[in-house]
Amino acid sequence: MEPTLSEFAFAKLNLFLEVIGKRPDGYHDLETVMHEIDLADRVTLRRRDEGVILRTDAPDLGNGEDNLAVRAVRALERHVGHSLPCEIGLEKRIPVGGGLGGGSSDAATVMRLLNRAFGLRLTDGTLEAVAGTFGSDIAFFIRGGTALCRGRGEIVEPLPGIPRLSFLLVLPEVHVPTPMVFKSLRLTGEIVEGYDLRRSLSLGSVAGLRRHAFNRLEGPARSLFPVLDARLSGLSPHRARLSGSGSTIFIPCVDDDEAQRLKSTLEASAGERLVVAASASR
Ligand code: C5P
Repeated sequence: MEPTLSEFAFAKLNLFLEVIGKRPDGYHDLETVMHEIDLADRVTLRRRDEGVILRTDAPDLGNGEDNLAVRAVRALERHVGHSLPCEIGLEKRIPVGGGLGGGSSDAATVMRLLNRAFGLRLTDGTLEAVAGTFGSDIAFFIRGGTALCRGRGEIVEPLPGIPRLSFLLVLPEVHVPTPMVFKSLRLTGEIVEGYDLRRSLSLGSVAGLRRHAFNRLEGPARSLFPVLDARLSGLSPHRARLSGSGSTIFIPCVDDDEAQRLKSTLEASAGERLVVAASASR
């Protein structure tokens, strides 16, 4: 019997996200700071003799060829030129469609596990290049941590040495389709620089993070989803921001205690979840 390998697939927050411009291929060039947090799925992988099987505890999630975890296997198979038969298990804890990158993180984790299970000896750089062929933010999750991501999001520059951060996450019960948000974005040519945010992060300044966290997709997401707009307005005294295209809202906190206190004072709206999270450590 082949051994079963297992790893966490952490979620991410976009602490900064500026859209630089629209590309001829329909995607957008971004400058975004992604940060891994300790909300995580668990991914297991075991070699088989033939075929790919995906088992998941999330009833709404497809387990066929369109699932990003299976697409990760197919992308790596194309790269190495032979089949990588395996059974994948996904224990989903990251909300689906919440701007937390759960599916992308699962896909990157499958690639790391395949690399180990089949002794492929591919470097992180190679895994990132393959990840960029089937998604925009999968490459970030190969190394994780904190990184400045450019291009479609697949060009990853790690930002090492960022002190541990605490957050309160507000997870509204609304599913935001990313393409819809990008489509309704009107670019004005105004570009917000990410320098101040990155400097605040490297200093571990939560006040700086609160001041300089930014997300260009917040405007269109708020216009499209009035529920999200109302929630963000209500939480604005706490410097709440949207992650990715939403719907997850994050509030930077001084430490876990502050996040817990805030959680107990804020009342969750109908269907909403409040979750305390901190920087992930791998
Ligand atoms: O690459 P991914 O599947 O994560 O992207 C989902 C959708 O988000 C794309 O189909 C596109 O509409 C939009 N997108 C974009 N520019 C990016 C990333 C995503 O327009 N850099």
